[in-house]
Amino acid sequence: MLHPYRCEICGETYVGGYPAERCPYCGAAGKNLLPAAEWINYGKIEMCEQSIEDCKKALELEMTNYAYYKCATAKAQTQVTQTIFKRFMKQEMEHAEVFSKALGFDLPEAPQVTCANEDVTNMEESNKHEQIAIKFYIEAANRAPEERIKQIFRSIAEVENEHLITLNMYK
Ligand SMILES: [Fe+2]
Ligand SMILES: [Fe+2]
Repeated sequence: MLHPYRCEICGETYVGGYPAERCPYCGAAGKNLLPAAEWINYGKIEMCEQSIEDCKKALELEMTNYAYYKCATAKAQTQVTQTIFKRFMKQEMEHAEVFSKALGFDLPEAPQVTCANEDVTNMEESNKHEQIAIKFYIEAANRAPEERIKQIFRSIAEVENEHLITLNMYK
């Protein structure tokens, strides 16, 4: 039997079996998939100056990582690496949308980035990007006075950590 759920982090809908291990869109842990009737649309969030700055920086990081994974997907040397890069590319775009929605901004254009022709280099580079994002998101979560902002940064940091684990496993 299929049930309707909605992700507490990215707001995407999911109709499927329970429990889902992860949100198929943003990658958030399955516990974030709420029965559809319980879902709350937070929309733009009132936040302090520091959180606005942190969300802006996060939006930039996500757009850059999206663009990097897009480049790596196009140049992937195997089906396996392409599958990983392509999925992470989509997840980073979902994350960018989470931050732009919280800020009440339109989604910016993706920056122009270049990547290597070899998977191993792109895996290593992605690994560095993810580490930077995780460190920053944890700091941002810890200093954010808004519960919702804390929740977003913590959940997305956890997804980026899963990216890191996957990259390390397949590099
Ligand atoms: Fe999600
Ligand atoms: Fe991300």
